Amino acid sequence: MHISVMSNEVMSIFKPKKGEVFIDATFGRGGHTKLMLNAQANVMAVDRDIDAVQYAYDTIFSNQFIIRHCLFSELYDVWKSVAAQNSQYSKVTGVLFDVGLSSNQISDASRGFSFMKDGPLDMRMGCNERSALHIIQNYSKLELANLIYRYGEEGRSRLIANLIVNNRFNLKTTKNLADLLAKNLPSGKIHAATKVFQALRIAVNNELGELENGLINACRILQRGGLLVVITFHSLEDRIVKQFFKRHSLAYTKKLPISPSKQEILQNRRARSAKLRWAIVT
Ligand SMILES: C[S@@+](CC[C@H](N)C(=O)[O-])C[C@H]1O[C@@H](n2cnc3c(N)ncnc32)[C@H](O)[C@@H]1O
Repeated sequence: MHISVMSNEVMSIFKPKKGEVFIDATFGRGGHTKLMLNAQANVMAVDRDIDAVQYAYDTIFSNQFIIRHCLFSELYDVWKSVAAQNSQYSKVTGVLFDVGLSSNQISDASRGFSFMKDGPLDMRMGCNERSALHIIQNYSKLELANLIYRYGEEGRSRLIANLIVNNRFNLKTTKNLADLLAKNLPSGKIHAATKVFQALRIAVNNELGELENGLINACRILQRGGLLVVITFHSLEDRIVKQFFKRHSLAYTKKLPISPSKQEILQNRRARSAKLRWAIVT
């Protein structure tokens, strides 16, 4: 099961109160949402993954909760239509992004996110994207090399692109790809497939573009004094948030991101790479 990351920090920034409205833009398994509902706040949550949305319907029975299936890039329009039907949702106190994947998505082999489990080379968080297999079979060597360099921050991108293109029609599963990389690249501290899987996943789901659009939408939704909290899990995402906050000169932003406590990292290894940035909208 997914364990929510940096919940104490999120709650101490939001300090949700009865009647206030929060948007959880990354419902996942609803960990953060449930804490806000327990504080008697109203929550509008969204997720691009239909499994997460179904999980919300199956587990949360509260008239202070609304779930919608959408992308960060659709958040403003979706919120507008919710607020048009439910006027109490028109003033939003805070928006939360806890980006990336939930543990449930990673551990489901059929989704193809993990090279530790054999499954189809899929990696789609939603249902409309093109799969990782599509990219592997259709991108040119140069396109693949650029993608692996930019989104995986992998220096051996050309070598890897070459390997993939020469074997592309034998690569059907996560194990096929992980084995190919492990066999042909010297092993280091991390598995040879780590950065390639990260790059493919980011490309399949347009994760960086989505994050940027999500932040823009959140700032359109929040009024002056509204709170924006973003938890990221790798440097490419954190850089986007940091630069966005800087560009939009939000009223309050700490220069350095907040990291999880040692205790949280001991209890939840997934938290170790988390970084939280927050801002007050002017
Ligand atoms: C780390 S999980 C969130 C976990 C959640 N905070 C909890 O405590 O259970 C991230 C979730 O965000 C969703 N997600 C990622 N990118 C998205 C996007 N662009 N639009 C909507 N949902 C997105 C994923 O499908 C996933 O369910």
